[in-house]
Amino acid sequence: MEGLIPVVNKLQDIFNIVGSDSLQLPQIVVVGVQSSGKSSVLENLVGRDFLPRGTGIVTRCPLVLQMIHTTNEDTAQCSNEETNEEVKEWVKFQHTKGKIFRSFKQVKKEIELETQRLSGNNKGISSEAIRLKIFSPKVLNLTLVDLPGLMKIPVGDQPDDIEEQARNLILRYISNPNSIILAVTPANVDFATSEALQMARIVDPDGCRTLAVVTKLDLMDAGTDAIDVLCGRIVPVKLGIIGIVNRSQLDINKGKSVQDAIKDEQAFLQKKYPSFANRSGSRYLSITLNRLLMHHIRDCLPDLKTRLNVLTSQYQSLLSTYGEEVQEKSITLLQIITKFATEYCNTIDGTSKIIETSEICGGARIAY
Ligand code: GDP
Ligand code: NA
Ligand code: MG
Repeated sequence: MEGLIPVVNKLQDIFNIVGSDSLQLPQIVVVGVQSSGKSSVLENLVGRDFLPRGTGIVTRCPLVLQMIHTTNEDTAQCSNEETNEEVKEWVKFQHTKGKIFRSFKQVKKEIELETQRLSGNNKGISSEAIRLKIFSPKVLNLTLVDLPGLMKIPVGDQPDDIEEQARNLILRYISNPNSIILAVTPANVDFATSEALQMARIVDPDGCRTLAVVTKLDLMDAGTDAIDVLCGRIVPVKLGIIGIVNRSQLDINKGKSVQDAIKDEQAFLQKKYPSFANRSGSRYLSITLNRLLMHHIRDCLPDLKTRLNVLTSQYQSLLSTYGEEVQEKSITLLQIITKFATEYCNTIDGTSKIIETSEICGGARIAY
């Protein structure tokens, strides 16, 4: 996600300057059956180990993770008073008010405690969400939503209508038209009957905001592979089908890091799926999401341009009443955006271009 940061920051600056509603990036929501690897997928996207994961029903209420990009000034303000040590990343929960969490281990613990408070000690689920903000210089201003999985048979103290409860909860989040749905299906179940894709199709019949993620490529039966699935021969998915390998339960128990997991994932893909390796894996998922976000930004630009044009002519007439020379500042801004829209957005393909774009936008702040 890091490649997008400079571009989105500059654009958000521009949106703020012209007083337009700030650039709203879509929420990313995961949907899938229980233990399909939803929390693991999100965790790989954030690059941090803090979401409770495991076999059985672990995520029992919606978890709304709002990532907030911080600058050096924010960082200084939040430094640890006792040690005077600079803290670069921290977390705040809505339910703990101003309390600052500096350790992701503590964050995980707090999520577990709050999950128990909201959804009981057993297997119940709650529609009330846990909300937290992750402040970091390494994240985009983006919201990720982790959800309980689809489930079939009530266990523990689950009520008889647990299946319906879970479905309604998931539907509520994925109905939001400003969300990108990550439909997660494990490679060791039949993709043709993927419940995640079936759910996604209810709210996104044209498949404009659904991306399929196939987890557990490493757990397929000997002699089988996911090639037909990944090619879209079983069920085509417009935005793509991305195969990945998350950490196994053993990896988690042994404390394997996200970084090591991504390295091993690449090695596995190279060996088992050489012709797919460059369009599979957690890193490629992240690049694909970047690209979808850029498309979204491109779609927001025409409105922004209209607003700038209106402002420009308002200022021009105001200035002419004073008999002053009209300054060219807002024109500069308009040019930057136009350049961004035409040169960049029409040729979106991958992250390297995204970094170049930050140069195109580089003058925006200075121009004002
Ligand atoms: P969720 O219930 O959908 O959120 O799934 P989790 O992310 O909690 O994962 C459920 C279990 O499956 C955990 O024990 C994970 O370690 C394991 N798991 C998830 N993805 C993979 C994968 O790609 N490969 C392997 N081997 N295990 C996985
Ligand atoms: Na689980
Ligand atoms: Mg989960």
